[in-house]
Amino acid sequence: MDVQDIKNRFGIIGGSPLLNRAIDIARQVAPTDMSVLITGESGSGKEVFSHIIHQMSARKHGTFIAVNCGAIPEGTIDSELFGHEKGSFTGAHEARKGYFEVANGGTIFLDEVAELPLGTQARLLRILESGEYLRVGSSKVQKTDVRIIAATNVDVYNRVKNGKFREDLYYRLNTVPLRIPALHERKEDIYLLFRKFSADFSDKYRSPGIQLEPDAIQVLSNYSWPGNVRQLKNIAEQICVLEKDRNVTAAALMNYIPNENGANLPMAINGNQNKEDFTERDILYKVLFDMKKDMVDLKKLVAEIIQSGGNTAHIMEDNPHYINQLYQEIDRPKYEPQALTINKPAPNTPMEYNYAHEAEEVEESLSLVDKESDLIKKALKKHKGKRKFAAQELGISERTLYRKIKELNLN
Ligand SMILES: Nc1ncnc2c1ncn2[C@@H]1O[C@H](COP(=O)(O)OP(=O)(O)O)[C@@H](O)[C@H]1O
Ligand SMILES: [Mg+2]
Repeated sequence: MDVQDIKNRFGIIGGSPLLNRAIDIARQVAPTDMSVLITGESGSGKEVFSHIIHQMSARKHGTFIAVNCGAIPEGTIDSELFGHEKGSFTGAHEARKGYFEVANGGTIFLDEVAELPLGTQARLLRILESGEYLRVGSSKVQKTDVRIIAATNVDVYNRVKNGKFREDLYYRLNTVPLRIPALHERKEDIYLLFRKFSADFSDKYRSPGIQLEPDAIQVLSNYSWPGNVRQLKNIAEQICVLEKDRNVTAAALMNYIPNENGANLPMAINGNQNKEDFTERDILYKVLFDMKKDMVDLKKLVAEIIQSGGNTAHIMEDNPHYINQLYQEIDRPKYEPQALTINKPAPNTPMEYNYAHEAEEVEESLSLVDKESDLIKKALKKHKGKRKFAAQELGISERTLYRKIKELNLN
């Protein structure tokens, strides 16, 4: 089978040199029994490649099991992988076969392999070296013949340096490295994939075909696609289902692509650290700083009150702005020094507040939620509904704006 046959058989779309090279390596390594470590960003096609390798190997009639190592709790992973004996831990009412026993003669795909706990790594290394393992709670050595394909979207060697991943296991797994290119490294494939996916979804939902306008193709191809092929597929599906106008312009497309401010930026090294996280973290820091400042001011105020023997009148007059802030927070009406001067209480009598005087001052809602939805509405109106510009004006990412519109029911 040549590379094109493999693409046809496994539904792989794309013709970029990096993708072709990955397919070629998979093709060559498949019939050997070597371990393969597949690296690549999330959604780039690692699992697809594990199937290709299994299907093109002598084990293709054997069992294939995919295990997401990152999703299994540390306490149960050994038992899942290697099985356990009855009574080996609380709740182990029956003996249970592990995946390595079930997949005997077949292939195990260990996704997110870098997440394996160190103890499990030791067991895995033993299987790789001798095919031997122990069930949890047993000292009887078992044998199995399983080919291991592992995958990761993090730099495992970095984990080795940090003592989180065994070096010997790393070299064992990495006999053949197979790197799946990220989508932004093969821009020429993006539009091709989109056409294939949107045609498939139009079929599935019996809806008319989708056409991208030239400017939309531009936007599609220049976006960074942090979620890679999986994300592209999702967006193709959304457009197929939601877009009324089947001729999709760049503007329409941008409604589906999150945070296109980052469209031309290279991806962050760690795929899931996108701009959004930074913005929200920044906001969090700001809130913390503001809180700290409030604390300092409050302490000062308390100290002054203590010093003045509990007479707060002059303190309030000296700090009208701060007192007002406090009142807002505890939902009291606005404080006005003049008003209080008129009704100034005798020294050392507790301050009573003249509510009647300022009843009409309290009209404005001070709820953050109201304020927020007000501002969003204003920004959207100002920019004639263009979310991109509204988000810019509000100083939040477009994605955050979408979320808020949804949360606050502003649609
Ligand atoms: N080259 C490709 N052509 C077509 N579909 C692809 C391609 N690469 C990945 N896919 C699809 O994208 C989705 C994500 O792929 P997957 O292998 O699960 O990614 P990963 O394991 O790297 O997170 C799957 O639906 C898969 O079928
Ligand atoms: Mg995956």
